[in-house]
Amino acid sequence: MPIFRMFAIFALCVLLLAACRLDMHVQPRLNPLAKSDFYTDQRSARPPVEGTVARGDLREDTYFYTGKFGNTPGDYMPFPVTADVMTRGRERFNIYCSPCHSRLGDGNGMIPQRGFRRPPSYHIDRLRKAPLGYFFDVMTNGFGAMPDYASQISPRDRWCIVAYIRALQLSQNASTAEVPQGQNVPSEPPQFREPGSGATLPTVAFPSADVPKEKQQ
Ligand code: HEC
Repeated sequence: MPIFRMFAIFALCVLLLAACRLDMHVQPRLNPLAKSDFYTDQRSARPPVEGTVARGDLREDTYFYTGKFGNTPGDYMPFPVTADVMTRGRERFNIYCSPCHSRLGDGNGMIPQRGFRRPPSYHIDRLRKAPLGYFFDVMTNGFGAMPDYASQISPRDRWCIVAYIRALQLSQNASTAEVPQGQNVPSEPPQFREPGSGATLPTVAFPSADVPKEKQQ
């Protein structure tokens, strides 16, 4: 039957062709990170050439990444402070810093209240006079008992937090004259607790949506 013969020839061709590819299946190669006798250090994965910089990792703007010139912290923001920067800074600060430093920055966060070393208030003279780059450096490298936040917070977000901390400091020491025209000044300024003074924040009753009117105080 010619159809069988044709099939046999076809099958033979397939077999012959498959045999042709065998060479490429067994070409010499190394599994990732396997040992190799070819190089003297026996590593098959070759280290990158010295001085290689990963794409996007060329940190040319040292001030942006360190907040310092040599060993001296600088005192300016590496980008303009806009409302977005402040909003981002407040959000990141409240997430990462307020558990210890409190939302006011007075150092009475929940974690020190439960026994962790109490941080200094941002409103002491020394920290009010500290240059902006100093705060960036504390976040980047940690400070004493405080861990660093370099891996959790991106450099840009760290700068946003710096801007927000400075605003917090101004807010606690501002005079009426510094309030922009047309803005209301609350008659009773919010108070922060002096370190160790034991004074507490005034309790403010906020009307709550899910409490019936007559039960609100
Ligand atoms: C786990 C608690 C904790 C968190 C979270 C934390 N800090 Fe601190 N921070 C501390 C403690 C404790 C100190 C005091 C360290 C010491 O004196 O050993 C401190 C000190 C500081 C100081 C003062 C350094 C000085 O010169 O006295 C700054 C500024 C500061 N922190 C900024 C930040 C910022 C910004 C964040 C958020 C990114 C942050 N901290 C998050 C605990 C914390």
